[in-house]
Amino acid sequence: MMPIDVIGGDHLASHGEGADEFDLEKRQEELKAMADSAFYGMTRDEALNHLEELHSSQLGRFLLENRGLNGQWTAYLIKDGLEKSSLNFTETWLLNRAPAVLATRERFGIFQKQLKKHLKAGMSIASVPCGRMDDLIDLDIGDASDLTFTGIDLDQGSLDLAREKSDSVSGKENAVTYSYENRDALSPDVGWGLGEARFDIITSNGLNIYLKDTDVDLLYQNFYKALKPGGLLITSFLTQKEDKNGTPIWEVGDVQDNLKKQRTIFATIIGVQWQNLRTEEETEDQLKRAGFEAKTIEFKYDKRKIFPTVIARKPEL
Ligand SMILES: C[S@@+](CC[C@H](N)C(=O)[O-])C[C@H]1O[C@@H](n2cnc3c(N)ncnc32)[C@H](O)[C@@H]1O
Repeated sequence: MMPIDVIGGDHLASHGEGADEFDLEKRQEELKAMADSAFYGMTRDEALNHLEELHSSQLGRFLLENRGLNGQWTAYLIKDGLEKSSLNFTETWLLNRAPAVLATRERFGIFQKQLKKHLKAGMSIASVPCGRMDDLIDLDIGDASDLTFTGIDLDQGSLDLAREKSDSVSGKENAVTYSYENRDALSPDVGWGLGEARFDIITSNGLNIYLKDTDVDLLYQNFYKALKPGGLLITSFLTQKEDKNGTPIWEVGDVQDNLKKQRTIFATIIGVQWQNLRTEEETEDQLKRAGFEAKTIEFKYDKRKIFPTVIARKPEL
């Protein structure tokens, strides 16, 4: 078992650490006091029913308490939850109908495809934040060998889960060396081996959506520093429904009702913190500001253009 290198930091953006127990009654009263418009067409009783169902499921309780997701519950939404039965209506809907969940599941497949396309023997690849690190641990590496996969996260629980998983999967023992580091991805001081260019590829899903623009700049600068010349960043972002001119971005199609319901559940009932939505142009500008080569920046969209993947390369020396 590889040791976990603890570097420190205190900026956990996605969820609380030992959050207080959720006060259901207080939240019920808050929902009862809200204007009808806060429910986007859902009745107040339906919203209260969703709140109760969320409170009675483990996923829902985590969301209500933390207003975000850690590695374990992200993995549950993308993969593990699909194997569960006898879930209540709200959790079943979240797993099978919520457009953002469907989009991130599709995005997971896009990450796998891009990783496979760019993978070469001898590469050093990092997942930041890694969560359970399904993106690298589940990757079909073909006959590539001499690979190093590094998981970086600020949550020790997520790192432990990832390590447990990589210790238990078989078939890649001779091809991949895993290591884990407890680091704050945003730290300008300690992060990234003091600016050392270490990685051929960095994957990053599910952190920038919690961050304001100045922190995303910091994050992308850290990615840039940590990549070797010619190295590749594969990341994702959540888009807005429409751009600043009112031109639609999302391919709403026949899921208008599910989008409204998702907004009520995520924004009004839970109050999630992953609400930093960005356009393609804003994301491209952020990557260019960090130093990534404009002509290499490429967008890969999920079906509804909700959770795109973006790929950017650091210039060769
Ligand atoms: C939504 S999860 C995404 C995990 C993983 N990338 C995935 O797609 O499954 C967000 C992750 O960000 C981590 N995180 C939050 N703030 C962080 C920070 N400042 N530095 C490093 N990791 C952080 C959390 O611990 C959590 O594992």
